[in-house]
Parts: sequence; structure tokens; C-alpha cells
Amino acid sequence: MNHQTIAIIGLGYVGLPLALEFGKRYPTIGFDVNAKRICELKNRHDSNLQASDEDFLKAKFLRFCHEEDGIQDAQIYIIAVPTPIDTYKKPDISALLNASSLVGKFLKIGDIVIYESTTYPTCTEQNCVPVLEATSGLVYNQDFFVGYSPERINPGDRQNTLTNIVKITSGSTPAAAKQIDALYASIITAGTHLAPSIKVAEATKAIENAQRDINIALMNELAIIFERLGIDTQDVLEAARTKWNFLPFTPGLVGGHCIGVDPYYLIHIAASFGYHPKIIATGRYINDLMPAFIAQKMVKLLSKNAIPALNANILILGVTFKENCPDIRNSKIPEVRQELLDFGCNVAIYDPLADKNEVKKIYGFEMLDTPVWAEQEAGKKTSSETTKATMIEKTGKKTRYDGIILAVAHKSFETINPHELLGENGVIYDLKGFFGRKAHARL
Ligand SMILES: NC(=O)c1ccc[n+]([C@@H]2O[C@H](COP(=O)([O-])OP(=O)(O)OC[C@H]3O[C@@H](n4cnc5c(N)ncnc54)[C@H](O)[C@@H]3O)[C@@H](O)[C@H]2O)c1
Repeated sequence: MNHQTIAIIGLGYVGLPLALEFGKRYPTIGFDVNAKRICELKNRHDSNLQASDEDFLKAKFLRFCHEEDGIQDAQIYIIAVPTPIDTYKKPDISALLNASSLVGKFLKIGDIVIYESTTYPTCTEQNCVPVLEATSGLVYNQDFFVGYSPERINPGDRQNTLTNIVKITSGSTPAAAKQIDALYASIITAGTHLAPSIKVAEATKAIENAQRDINIALMNELAIIFERLGIDTQDVLEAARTKWNFLPFTPGLVGGHCIGVDPYYLIHIAASFGYHPKIIATGRYINDLMPAFIAQKMVKLLSKNAIPALNANILILGVTFKENCPDIRNSKIPEVRQELLDFGCNVAIYDPLADKNEVKKIYGFEMLDTPVWAEQEAGKKTSSETTKATMIEKTGKKTRYDGIILAVAHKSFETINPHELLGENGVIYDLKGFFGRKAHARL
């Protein structure tokens, strides 16, 4: 195994940590279709904020490439490309098939291809292997072998990282499975769990995220019920958690590329086998309702304080899909923003972790440079959004918001005193319990 070269295809949140870890021990090639990404990695910079300069230096056998034929010397290919959903919430496995087609071009007798991307059970063997066979002209389980090893890392989490989370492994033959398991066991200190088949390994990943989605959906449903009853959900959960077997989930927006996406992969494959999941689909339904619920609640809070929604100035703190992480994929904040705009509010968003240009490119709006946007930006009048912001000057010299939504609990927000930003009768709606009793309402 030691002499074999590993190629990692796709160097995002999953692929880069793998490449860096394998690159400490084995000749490793990191390939990505995104030339900008390769350029930054060659300069030992990771815009996902996961890897440090030291991590790059430790990976002394790793080299990065953008040229397709750069991967031709590998014997083990690990594919970690995105698996999103389309606008109809159907799995989009095009990147997986493109990566398979690329690997197929260079596949040699005895090579192994391992898939790490999250997908539905059966996808690897039913969808990807045929592409490998077609492009390579080789025969599956005779000339080349396949494995599936789902990734369990948690972006922004410095404790649960690649090497200290047990890794599920699997292979298309007992010998391939053993070889794949040994490969991962050589870098994962927490150990590996060899699943009996590729399908089992695929299903394991899918249900981990579906379970989490459903648990959060239950909390969100409780938040909807308790809002009607005038009960603070967080107070209820705090009390309930004193029971030993009460699961400590909390309500919230479910964004990102995993929890809010992967259940649709399971729904898709179940439906194609004639079963239409109810619980999984309802979990998705409830979680997708939350942006509208949150916006409505904000408007109700304003009304209670005699502030009309029309032209109310709202600041949203946080746009990334989770705390302390720059990832903006499938963020639900743009939906909250849109709902508030539909009510006639002016909405400003501040998030020091998110890339402003990416937010503009993907979601089409400008973000603030500081939470006290209007004070600083009002004079510039560079865009229509900024011009709108001048309305926030209405209280005179000092900028004041009518409402603040704490949407993401970034550590850096600890330095913000929301009351300093708030106008008379303004309200703080804290989705994360971040501001404690400083907030007027919690989710
Ligand atoms: N991010 C996580 O925490 C996490 C955790 C577990 C599983 N996953 C799963 O892992 C997979 C990858 O997720 P990610 O977060 O690393 O995505 P990402 O978007 O951060 O990175 C994917 C990379 O793949 C590259 N890419 C796209 N198509 C390619 C192709 N055909 N060939 C080569 N490179 C290509 C992209 O340029 C990008 O750099 C997904 O299936 C995701 O669901 C992600």
C-alpha cells in the first residue's frame, strides 16, 4: 500500500482535509476543476478556513494540480465532489458522474476508486460504476474495484475532525474492502468500521443526516406550537433537558449542503422503489417553513412595539449556514431576508465570516462591512441598496435599527452589544439564544 499514489478528486471541505492527511504519508495528488481553488491551495491558503499553513507544510508528499492528466499516475482515486439538489429538490449527481468519467479515462488494471461524496444507496454501483466501465473499457470487479467511505466531518468544528471520527469503509469485493479499510485505518486514529457492502455504507450516511433533520424538525414544530401558546421554547427545552434521555436538539434554520439536502436523496431513491417517505418528507417540509415563520415573528414583535413593518430597518447578524464557518451554501438567511422585504422592511445583513463577493454572486445582495452600516455607508450612496440604507438615518446622527435578528452564533458576534444598535422600542430576536436575556424573543 505504501508505494501507491492516491489522487483526491475535488478539494473542498471534504477533499482537502483528506488530501492533507494522506499527503503526510503517501504520494498524493490533489485535483480540482476549479483553477482558482488550486491556485490558492498551491499558495497554502484555504478560503474554507479549515487548513493552516502548518497543515500544508506537514503534507510533504502532496501536490496540487488542475490538469486532468495530472492524476494519471494514481492507483487509488478518491472522489469528493458536490452532490447538491436541483431546483425541484431532486439529486443532482452530475459532478459525481463527471468525476467518474474523468477517473475512468486514466483507470488501469488493479486500480481502486473510492467515493466519499454523500449520495443515495445504490448510486455508486448503479450510476457511477457504469461510467467508470464505459470510459475505461475495463470490467468492474475484475479489472478495477470500487469502495464507498462517507465523510462525517463537521465544518467549523475543531474537535470532531477527520482523524478522530470513526470512518465507515466498504468495498466491492472482500479483498478490495480489506485494502480500503486498511488505507483509512492508517490515517484515522479513531478507527474504522468496515460495512458489509457499499449499499450499507451509502445508506449509513444518508440516515445520519435524515435523523438529524427530523429531530430538528420536531423542535421547529414545537417552536411553532409554543409561539402560539406564548411559551418560550428555549425555557421548555432547558427544563426538558434535565431528563436523562431527552435529546438536546434545538429549533433553527436548516441550511448547508448536508442536512437540508441529503434527505432528498433518500426520498428520491425510496420513491423510485415505490415507497413515498412520509416522516422524512415532513421533516423537510417543516424545516423549510422556518424562514417564513421567523420573518412573520419579527413583524409581530415589531407590531407589538408599535413599529410598522413598512420601512422598518432590520439587521440580520449572520448569513453562513452555521456558526464559525464561512460556508454560505443553501443558507436560509436569503429566504428570511426576502420574506422581510415582502413585508416592506429594509434589511441589512452583516457577517464577517462570509465572502461578500460570493454572497453577491450567489444571492444577489450586498452585505455590510460593519454592523453599523447606515452610519458608515449612508453618505456613499453607491447602490440602490445603500441608498435605501440612508433611511436608517431617520433617527438623526445615530444609526438605529428597529429590529435585530441574531441568526448565526459566530463567536466574533460576542463583541456586539445589540442594544447599542437598536432604536427606541426596537426588538432583538435571537434564534440561537446567543444574547441570553439581552434578547426580547428567542426561537
Ligand atoms: N462539507 C461537509 O462538511 C461534508 C460532510 C460530509 C459529507 N459531505 C459531502 O462531501 C461531498 C463534497 O462536499 P464538500 O463540502 O467538500 O464540497 P465543496 O463544494 O466544498 O468541494 C467540492 C470541490 O469539488 C470540486 N469539483 C466539482 N466538480 C468536480 C469534478 N468533476 N472534478 C473535480 N473536482 C470537482 C469543486 O470545485 C470543489 O472545490 C458532497 O457530497 C457533500 O455532501 C460534505
